[in-house]
Amino acid sequence: MLRIALAKGRLQEEFLKLIYGDSKERRENRSLFLKDEVRNWEIILPKATDVAKYLQMGMADVGIVGKDVLEEEGTYFKSPAQFSFGTCQMVIAGPKFEQKKITDGIRVATKYPKVAQRIFKEKGIHARIIYLQGSVELAVATQVADVIVDIVETGKTLKENGLTIYEKLFDVNAKLALGNNISDEKREAVERLIDEINIKINKN
Ligand code: PRP
Repeated sequence: MLRIALAKGRLQEEFLKLIYGDSKERRENRSLFLKDEVRNWEIILPKATDVAKYLQMGMADVGIVGKDVLEEEGTYFKSPAQFSFGTCQMVIAGPKFEQKKITDGIRVATKYPKVAQRIFKEKGIHARIIYLQGSVELAVATQVADVIVDIVETGKTLKENGLTIYEKLFDVNAKLALGNNISDEKREAVERLIDEINIKINKN
């Protein structure tokens, strides 16, 4: 049995859709464990930021998590695969009609404080990082922050909140992270998992 820690939410939906198609039953299921007897998988659904913990504690053999989270956590895993699903971009965004200057003292709301700190440090700009757990666009709308560092997929959330992309920072997609000390047998199962994902991506 291969235990897969799949980041709950965005990647969960995309991965399950890719493998199983539009199954209503799977979409509506609120269980955090999914069993696939045919493939011999047990899929667990931790929060994205906890995937690394499950791998480090040996509670999962393999993790599927976004590059955004791995960059923020600074966690290094042997990552044998990177997929072209879960694709989005890490950006700096701000008000569309009142462009903010990126200068010292700029207030940056983000779910990714370490990434944001690093980005502004590299620019030589002293930024005030405001860590929020979500809905960061709101921080600009309420003038708590000047800009955000966040992931953008469709751009809909930015648009509907009067924001626009100021700078694209890096591409984000789903990555496969290997747990420590997995057996040769499990390694083969991981290879099969990677092959199946890639075959299905290419079919779409
Ligand atoms: C992410 C991100 C944006 C939104 C972007 O949030 O932080 O808010 O998605 O997606 P879009 O470009 O397709 O509109 P998420 O939905 O993961 O929720 P959260 O803010 O609660 O973390």
